[in-house]
Amino acid sequence: MTIAVRYQTRNGNTKAFAEQIAAIAGVAAQSTNTPVEQADTLFFGGGTYFMKPDKAASAFMDTLDPTKVKQIALFTTSGGPEMVTDKALTKIAADKGIPVIGHFHKVMGGKGMKILGQSGGVLKDDQITDVKDFARKMLAE
Ligand SMILES: Cc1cc2nc3c(=O)[nH]c(=O)nc-3n(C[C@H](O)[C@H](O)[C@H](O)COP(=O)(O)O)c2cc1C
Repeated sequence: MTIAVRYQTRNGNTKAFAEQIAAIAGVAAQSTNTPVEQADTLFFGGGTYFMKPDKAASAFMDTLDPTKVKQIALFTTSGGPEMVTDKALTKIAADKGIPVIGHFHKVMGGKGMKILGQSGGVLKDDQITDVKDFARKMLAE
């Protein structure tokens, strides 16, 4: 089974979750700059910026070939509770005909928002536990 982990991040939160997933999957977490040639399961994650995914996240999803990427497990982070990025990325996958097998989302509050003077990318123990559980569950699908 081929597993790939890709993420879009501005301030490190989503990358930190990607790295936990990658450790469980036994592969490297890579940014959207590295295309996915083929994957039985692709874990893909991104943050939320002004109620949208980053353009790099949407553009990456647009490049996916449904004959080569069999299924996607989405992981997203945001400051508030609304899962707008998950919704937008799920729609791109649906339009392409790639099944989304799971959705992981974490509300980070002000973590990573430099404007609030908070650095990103440092996860709490329960966040690590939750994302590892998600990764294991998705790998069993
Ligand atoms: C410029 C900017 C705009 C943001 N806009 C939103 C937003 O509209 N809604 C929200 O819930 N979070 C928003 N956030 C919070 C981020 O989604 C959150 O910090 C997320 O974890 C960022 O992921 P990253 O650290 O991987 O970039 C924003 C953060 C930044 C820096």
